[in-house]
Amino acid sequence: MAVQEVIKMGHPLLLARAKEVENFATAELEQLIIDMKDTMAALNGAGLAAPQIAVSLRIVIFGVSENPRYPDADSVPETVLINPEISIIAPERDSAWEGCLSVPHLRGLVPRYTSIRYRGYDTQGNLIEREAHGFHARVVQHEVDHLDGILYPTRIEDLKDFGYEDALMQSHDESELEEEL
Ligand code: NI
Repeated sequence: MAVQEVIKMGHPLLLARAKEVENFATAELEQLIIDMKDTMAALNGAGLAAPQIAVSLRIVIFGVSENPRYPDADSVPETVLINPEISIIAPERDSAWEGCLSVPHLRGLVPRYTSIRYRGYDTQGNLIEREAHGFHARVVQHEVDHLDGILYPTRIEDLKDFGYEDALMQSHDESELEEEL
């Protein structure tokens, strides 16, 4: 296990544009991915971007299998996505509560496109191309935002829809408050 510290909102690396990965199938890249997976698992996250462990490279991981805490959540394939690009399939957006491991204890209501296409590479440099909808699309947009120095609070349309998870639980269902990304 090589669980790394997750840096928090306020750290300048979370506001920077991360750099493209140029070399695939290297021992360094494999080790970084292991650290990211260990860190995400240790914190029960549904996604993690390399800048969150202070590595400013365009790498995200995500995945949600059945989680007893969120029995109604859609499953999202376990994925390592390097140098990702997103294209929007349709203009429709919907709003849902998001959390972020770099913004602990808080949740905000964030609009995201409901249908996207994304492409990127795995650690060996093989192309990954997929269409994603709903929560899967949301997770990818949240993680790719991290690579462009964007944290979800800046996407909240009304700051009344931003608060502490424990306080929001008084008026919202726990399953509505989504997972930390
Ligand atoms: Ni996040």
